[in-house]
Amino acid sequence: MTSEVATDLAEKMRLRAALIERIGGYMTAHAIGVVAELGIADLIKDGVRGSEELAAESGTHEPSLRRLLRMLGAVGITTEPEPGHFALTDVGAQLRSDSPDSLRAFSRMFCHPIFFSAWQGLEHAVTTGERAFDHVYGKDFYHHIAAHEDVSALFNVAMSEESRIAAAQLTAAYDFSDAGTVVDLGGGDGTLLTAILTSHPRLRGIVFDSPSGVAEAPAVLENAGIADRCEARAGDFFQDIPTDGDLYIVKSVFQDWNDEDSLALLRSCRAQMPDSATLLIVGSVLPETAATDQPIPFFTDLNMLVIAGGRERSESEFRAMLEDTGFTVRSVKLSAAGPLSIIRATPAPA
Ligand SMILES: C[S@@+](CC[C@H](N)C(=O)[O-])C[C@H]1O[C@@H](n2cnc3c(N)ncnc32)[C@H](O)[C@@H]1O
Repeated sequence: MTSEVATDLAEKMRLRAALIERIGGYMTAHAIGVVAELGIADLIKDGVRGSEELAAESGTHEPSLRRLLRMLGAVGITTEPEPGHFALTDVGAQLRSDSPDSLRAFSRMFCHPIFFSAWQGLEHAVTTGERAFDHVYGKDFYHHIAAHEDVSALFNVAMSEESRIAAAQLTAAYDFSDAGTVVDLGGGDGTLLTAILTSHPRLRGIVFDSPSGVAEAPAVLENAGIADRCEARAGDFFQDIPTDGDLYIVKSVFQDWNDEDSLALLRSCRAQMPDSATLLIVGSVLPETAATDQPIPFFTDLNMLVIAGGRERSESEFRAMLEDTGFTVRSVKLSAAGPLSIIRATPAPA
């Protein structure tokens, strides 16, 4: 074989492997979901555990569990320092429930059969522009999970795991000292507001969400010792939002909604929040073109097409929506620690 032929073949093999590894993404997601569901990372903790003990403790089939953990070793979730013995990498350690940075519930939720089944409707969504979730389940995501208490509770914890790190980024990036009463619209179990109020003892707060979305919030606020200055309020943010706030946070919510609904939500905020209040839109801002260094907002964007019918938006799209609904954009800030954007807007004079 000439050296040109060998180089050409090596390049073909590299390209082939790159595509096949990406196709294996769904296998990786399934494998992570099973490890999260079975609590295997909680058994490994920070040690090295043999697959026989792990199988006995998790009630699984040892040769199959070993293959699962080995496959996860190939993608950097576990290591296998000696045959049949496994440890967690720093990435895999996030699957432990006892880690303050745990993403176990997040992994269980996003690798849940509900999500996997909905993704089977991706072709339908791309062909028609309709939500895949509704096509597969016959109703929208939030109505579906409201009728399934266990899934709704898992979703709320999954969101709070994601919000914990975002809360640290937000409190580092935004000065809340004069905020008075902070309202978190679509605030889930109150994790974000708990972090803000814990570091600002003079602030008061209202976590506002649907009845199933806010169900776990009273316990979270009580456990954090802030229930005397933070209320959990249930309602529909398209109809009635609290009118007694000074700062309104909307984090990772607009991505759930199409443009018509997002504009309706912004109009609801503009009509009901005091003229002197501030609106903070917190979450991802989609780069204007595809970027391999920031894949997560693009994953979320497609996930929204499948699950919720919404989409991620670019800074210019957020600006246009805010201006259309009577807000003035005051600043757009990117958290220094990562891709979390904070858009600050105030009601424009009528
Ligand atoms: C993607 S989650 C984000 C939760 C939280 N802000 C966070 O970042 O972790 C969207 C939230 O909007 C809430 N939500 C959906 N529809 C709502 C409605 N009509 N009124 C109030 N909240 C709603 C959901 O229950 C959910 O908690």
